[in-house]
Amino acid sequence: KSLKNYNTFGIDVKATEFITINSKKELVEVLSIHKDKNIFILSGGSNMLLTKDLESLVLHIAIKGITTSIESDNYALVSASAGENWHDFVQFCIHNDFGGLENLSLIPGYVGSAPIQNIGAYGVELKDSFVSCETVNLKTGENRLFTKEECNFEYRNSVFKSKLKGKYIITKVTFKLSTKEHILNTSYGAIENALKEKNIDTPTIKDISETVIAIRKSKLPDPAVIGNSGSFFKNPVISVEAFTLLQKSYANIPHYQIDTKNIKVPAGWLIEQSGFKGKRWGDAGVHNKQALVLVNHSNASGQEILELSLKIKTTVKKKFGISLETEVNII
Ligand code: EPU
Repeated sequence: KSLKNYNTFGIDVKATEFITINSKKELVEVLSIHKDKNIFILSGGSNMLLTKDLESLVLHIAIKGITTSIESDNYALVSASAGENWHDFVQFCIHNDFGGLENLSLIPGYVGSAPIQNIGAYGVELKDSFVSCETVNLKTGENRLFTKEECNFEYRNSVFKSKLKGKYIITKVTFKLSTKEHILNTSYGAIENALKEKNIDTPTIKDISETVIAIRKSKLPDPAVIGNSGSFFKNPVISVEAFTLLQKSYANIPHYQIDTKNIKVPAGWLIEQSGFKGKRWGDAGVHNKQALVLVNHSNASGQEILELSLKIKTTVKKKFGISLETEVNII
């Protein structure tokens, strides 16, 4: 089966076998029947670059359902199954006036993969409202609940992307969301500016969501139109010493202080300065409005995108002495 419609990069590779999973029960059954096979879990396919055919049984996790329980005057516990579309889930929360996820509007992908890389945008990360997730052990079929602590969330990382990579399938995620006094995060400059422009002094979570949607639409390519996986690299963290040295040659280098020793530099800036923004080799390219996003103009192979990413890495390393780390999973 072709996976072209199952990964947001739109890469045309094939899977030996493909099963859509609609319930946890079905998942456990399928795992027990196909115990000895090489199994590959496919969720929204929004954070991967497929570079070759998969000689595996691909399980497409499409389990649906959202439940809510009002816990007190101030918050609700909201659980979504892994196969729910992330953005639709965020919109459900906004519609029901549950606050906390509004800054994460319009992120592609499914709920089940959101914890794996601790999705984040505009000053908010999934971990800020995450409570727990239900999982199934891929080898034994056993259930296991992971608390927030056990997930080891970090910037674009978790236990599911590191120590326990490929061992558990997330089936449901629970969030603690505000019901009355929402704590809004408007610290990101572009949000602040947009609200000011619209003369909104006391924004609602809906205002924030709409603002985030507008910002994302202005910078990031819509995967339905042009294949991509969002940021291809992580923003690198460098030492204050290394940064001070760079600043001597590049006075305008944008940066965020992380702590007294470390500074984060936007990879998009490094890539743009290296001359890649808007460039294209065949159908593999760099987005013209956000250099951190690699794009498939229509028929690029995963290998071509991968080669472009390596070329970018080498050039950035030579020019700035900084090693970019891939954020997208290369398969
Ligand atoms: N910049 C450039 N040229 C570019 C792109 C960026 O100079 O082509 C510079 C600008 O100075 C800009 C700064 O980089 O001010 C930061 O850019 P932006 O606000 O677009 O954010 P980012 O750091 O490039 C990160 C996340 C995005 C997230 C945004 C907003 C990572 C790897 N990426 O990008 O996440 O939407 O912040 O919070 O942390 C994703 O993970 O797929 C993703 C899109």
